[in-house]
Amino acid sequence: MAADPRPWSPTSWQEHPAAQQPEWPDPAALDSVLTTLSGYPPLVFAGEARQLTEALGRVAAGEAFLLQAGDCAESFETFSANSIRERLKIILQMAVVLTYSAGVPTVKVGRIAGQFAKPRSSDTETVDGRSLPSFRGHMVNDVEFTDEARLPDPNRLIEAYHQSAATLNLLRAFTKGGFADLSRVHLWTQEFVRASPEARRYESLADEIDRALRFMRATGIDPADQPSLHEVDFYTSHEALVLGYESALTREDSLTGDHYDCSAHMVWIGERTRGIEDAHVEFFRGIANPIGCKLGPSASVEETLALCEVLDPDRTPGRLTLITRLGAERIGDLLPPLVEAVRAAGHPVVWACDPMHANTFTSPSGRKTRHFDEILRELRGFFDVHRSLDSWPGGVHVELTGDDVTECLGGAEALADHELDLRYETMCDPRLNGRQSLDLAFGVAELLRG
Ligand code: TRP
Ligand code: MN
Repeated sequence: MAADPRPWSPTSWQEHPAAQQPEWPDPAALDSVLTTLSGYPPLVFAGEARQLTEALGRVAAGEAFLLQAGDCAESFETFSANSIRERLKIILQMAVVLTYSAGVPTVKVGRIAGQFAKPRSSDTETVDGRSLPSFRGHMVNDVEFTDEARLPDPNRLIEAYHQSAATLNLLRAFTKGGFADLSRVHLWTQEFVRASPEARRYESLADEIDRALRFMRATGIDPADQPSLHEVDFYTSHEALVLGYESALTREDSLTGDHYDCSAHMVWIGERTRGIEDAHVEFFRGIANPIGCKLGPSASVEETLALCEVLDPDRTPGRLTLITRLGAERIGDLLPPLVEAVRAAGHPVVWACDPMHANTFTSPSGRKTRHFDEILRELRGFFDVHRSLDSWPGGVHVELTGDDVTECLGGAEALADHELDLRYETMCDPRLNGRQSLDLAFGVAELLRG
């Protein structure tokens, strides 16, 4: 990028320390896989990524809201049309509620079609005195606690590419082929509201949306000839953790000469890999996609400003989304100095709140979980801080699934600790189930209106 005089290439990250990379047992096998991948077609096109940057630019300006949501870690095993459709369905339902309440468009970005790699706090996991490599996501190895499963296998990178391609293909078909029809999506939400006494408290908001749709029809807007009522732009994103994979899918755009990581529209840097001299930041500074960076409680003002300068030297609206994950307890203290410093430095970033990752704990039953109330409390803190600084609370970043899992506590149905065991299916972090996700959207809707 223009303002940074240091040379960059899709592989210049290799000169920097790369955290959280698998120890591939056979470097020659890895090389051969990466060569194969670099010859494969891109999964997304540069023009789509630019469109997303523009949409996020509107979020940065307070003219739109960002909903980024999906699995903590996608699975090779639960790969099916059903699972993709259920995740999309819940995200669309949330988007309708948010769009109505915010009164501005919702930019829809899935953690999907590429979310296959996980950073881990330790390189190894020890069970009953036996140590094996940690599970790093299906792009790398398998969850089962055996030597064979845990050995990183580069062929999984190819598998991840193909699963991403098939997922993206179905998402494109669903979002442009009628499934995303506004009235139909809202009908699902009304079914949800009517189905349980707990959800009934959302009835008035759901009825308002219904009335707005009827008003539109009454004024002569014919849904049949309004593509904007049946179609949505849906974008993909994931944590670009395994740099070999990401750089193999990076292509030079013939129109602009810029490089795009064509594994997804948007990619982000995790909290554990955002070291300013490190390989991930080096890779990200040279790609022209819209990018995200997670900021945890340890992120200082200086670190944050340094990241903004390297990742967004041209101060491009929508280029950089700062995804804070500070915790319900501390967000009120930690967020204001970051917002003020970034604003003073002139970076038109999107501020998004990840209310999941700093509110994780082990329940008395021994399950890694999160409580719905704490998730909502961090979101409330996020809105309070931005409102008090006259800054736009640009969006939310959440981990969810459309399936009826029991991984997070609370929500309208007050899921309790002893119920976590019923359907605790995640390979990694606890996700909101479909109902809890809609509960959350209604909760955020109240914050947006309040
Ligand atoms: N196309 C518009 C949008 O994306 C309206 C819309 C149609 C919509 N179907 C939707 C919005 C489903 C949210 C969810 O905003
Ligand atoms: Mn996670």
